[in-house]
Amino acid sequence: MSLPNHFELLGQSGAARTGRLTTPHGVVRTPAFMPVGTAGAMKGLHWREVRDAGADIVLGNTYHLMLRPGAERIAALGGLQRFTTWNGPMLTDSGGFQVMSLAQLRKVTEQAVKFRSHIDGAAIELSPERAIEVQLLLGSDIAMQLDECVRLPAERDDILRAMELSLRWAERCKRAFERAPEGHMLFGIVQGGDIPQLRHASARGLIEIGFHGYAIGGLAVGEPQEVMLAMIEEAAPILPADRPRYLMGVGTPEDILEAVARGIDMFDCVMPTRNGRHGVAFTRFGPVNLRNARHADDPRPLDESSEWPSTRNCSRAYLHHLVKSGETLGAMLLSEINIAYYQSLMAGMRAAIAQGRFAEFREQTHADWARGDI
Ligand code: GUN
Repeated sequence: MSLPNHFELLGQSGAARTGRLTTPHGVVRTPAFMPVGTAGAMKGLHWREVRDAGADIVLGNTYHLMLRPGAERIAALGGLQRFTTWNGPMLTDSGGFQVMSLAQLRKVTEQAVKFRSHIDGAAIELSPERAIEVQLLLGSDIAMQLDECVRLPAERDDILRAMELSLRWAERCKRAFERAPEGHMLFGIVQGGDIPQLRHASARGLIEIGFHGYAIGGLAVGEPQEVMLAMIEEAAPILPADRPRYLMGVGTPEDILEAVARGIDMFDCVMPTRNGRHGVAFTRFGPVNLRNARHADDPRPLDESSEWPSTRNCSRAYLHHLVKSGETLGAMLLSEINIAYYQSLMAGMRAAIAQGRFAEFREQTHADWARGDI
């Protein structure tokens, strides 16, 4: 059954698309980068900085929030937006992927994924129905189906089994989502590892079930970038052109630019905040490691042409000092600088696509990165 469509395509340049996705908490301009606020907090940033940097939507995690503070508690406190004070759109991941990377003693059955909490060892069962129930309790604008993601390299049989299980779970999630309030969305997730035929089968199976949008999962899990881009090229053209496409857990600025060039609309990744906490800034001229002693006496900012105040004003010497001293402010400034860089990259792509000059933008951006930080 076809679901209402809340996505509007506004322009296209080559395969790159720009559009707007309307959620109960506001409009998301695409291509969009969703900063990751895993446990109801953006590590190192105030919500107002996330908004000021240009983010329309953020991501939260079912896995973390159901364990602590608990989905029922957040619902009783008015939902995730009220709880966190982030009043904009939120997408929540469904939990399966985080169980695989964080939980102990996990076991996948047809019925559910069973695991022990990484916080207190409690035995938890996450079924497709419970994953949807939790996301509805949180009040998520965009819920994700429960899926099983296989790390690469993997055997064909394992990839096939997980892809088929994910399709059966997709159907159960769709049914559980029937009681969702008006305007809330559910996305299916294409699996199939690095095998084109399995990617096609997964995409076709999901389209048959019918979702508000389609994600491509199971990438950036150990494969080379060229394999990731090849799998996007296999899946994206099959997906309905009028629905949003979301590449999960990606990536570097270059991964994102290249995925937009292949028709992807949405992204999320911990990279800007995590790398910021580790002393690395993303800039127009590529990544800069502020731990490096070459910055100790350098009065220049990271990028004097940036519109983001900290990027334009803070000296490299100061950032180097903060990082070397282990000051919290160093992690905060670099996280903010990185989120602002990612958002400026997305804004640049949206403008270029709208003007039909994405190819030039892509070439210039690669040339700037290739120049390097000098
Ligand atoms: N985040 C990054 N990759 C994936 C994936 O394959 N599935 C889910 N649910 N989340 C992800």
